[in-house]
Amino acid sequence: RSNYIVMSAVRSNSASTCPVLTKFQKDCATPTPYLRNVANAIADDMRAGLAVEGGGDLDMILTYVDALPSGNEEGLFYALDLGGTNFRVRSVQLGGKKKRVVATESEQISIPQKLMIGTSEELFGFIAAKLASFVAKEKPSRFRLEEGRKREIGFTFSFPVKQTSIDSGTLIKWTKGFKVSGMEGKNVVACLNKAMEAHGLDMRVSALVNDGVGTLAGARYSEEDVMIGVILGTGTNACYVEQKHAIPKLQSKSSSGTTIINTEWGGFSKVLPKTIFDQEMDAKSPNPGEHLYEKMISGMYLGEIVRRVLLQMCETSDLFGQFVPVKLSTPFELRTEHLCEMQADTTDDLQTVGSVLYNILEVEANLQERRRVVEVCDTVVKRGGRLAGAGIVAILEKIEKETKRMGSGKRTVVAMDGALYEKYPQYREYMQDALVELLGDKLSHIAIKHTKDVSGLGAALLAATNSIY
Ligand code: GLC
Repeated sequence: RSNYIVMSAVRSNSASTCPVLTKFQKDCATPTPYLRNVANAIADDMRAGLAVEGGGDLDMILTYVDALPSGNEEGLFYALDLGGTNFRVRSVQLGGKKKRVVATESEQISIPQKLMIGTSEELFGFIAAKLASFVAKEKPSRFRLEEGRKREIGFTFSFPVKQTSIDSGTLIKWTKGFKVSGMEGKNVVACLNKAMEAHGLDMRVSALVNDGVGTLAGARYSEEDVMIGVILGTGTNACYVEQKHAIPKLQSKSSSGTTIINTEWGGFSKVLPKTIFDQEMDAKSPNPGEHLYEKMISGMYLGEIVRRVLLQMCETSDLFGQFVPVKLSTPFELRTEHLCEMQADTTDDLQTVGSVLYNILEVEANLQERRRVVEVCDTVVKRGGRLAGAGIVAILEKIEKETKRMGSGKRTVVAMDGALYEKYPQYREYMQDALVELLGDKLSHIAIKHTKDVSGLGAALLAATNSIY
């Protein structure tokens, strides 16, 4: 016991007694020139992906969304949203230019973990059942379907999908911990249709969209200058308005006008500050070697990276005494929201940090240890936020290159959504720092706006735009 006390006293003397942390901080550093390289490399991969299918790390998926909402949309439409920990269903009664959204109702249901790794019948059966009960509860006084029409859905399916038209597409691969068997290469809409039929639901998917596309469309409904939709949540992605003439792989006769590109930027993998912890987490993930940028910047992973660093600090006795706490050895036990809670602690003795560590990891941490934990969180969050900023810069610069908007005095609005962006102030600040460092004065032409939960509205609007009636 006395030995132990002496040891911790020695350990708490200076940061140099914590080599794991020092090395980790060094490996995670993203000084401005480094970030510039990242932004340029993302831009290169964007161009390569627009040139030919599979040309770069970014899929640069053609979404078949050529027209964004105009405001004239009318009628009753639905939005289904599958892609993270929650599944959402929404009804929207659209009243045209004057009345806009007349009524809307939504329901959020958390997806049982076992459905994320089960069969497609189980997953889509669950969705269809929830959808059926949502529609059954609908109040005719608020929502009215025109006679002779089917109910039409905008289906937000937030995974990489190879679109074959606006209302169909096949799953390229799962991300974000989903691994539903036998679905890769299958038509996502057909899976939903089958389940809806089995539940006696006569509804039709009129638009299949990514959450980034939904966010872009939903935000554009109220603001014309929105050109990019970015998701920073469980996963991450960006979708933007591209000029058709800048998309060689489109091979369409008319190359005028614009279309929306789903970048799937989570797949970016070059010039990233990968540490041993990133590599080990990736190797253990259901999609090893894939979506490496996502694994560094999105909500699903930040807590897990921190846990892995703390575990090594503990094993090399830089933290938490001689014993490795069981919870610290349990993957995904520490979540990004816990990091956020700890970083919000402004008390001198870091009380909240202490209680999070106690409640979540079941360790009693002294002040020195609490400080070290916060430093690890900050290192991971700083790297994530700054790298996300570099991605946004890459897209902004691509848009500017094609359109010269800023030159002509136009603003460019980036619509942001996702719990990580919404709830983690330090992450947002680090992202903003990167934008300032990389864009300088040009930033005055840009507005970053938090457009919360507009992706459902966007999907419903795109169902209206692409209605079969
Ligand atoms: C993942 C998915 C992508 C989605 C993003 C945000 O990266 O592959 O399609 O948009 O998460 O939800």
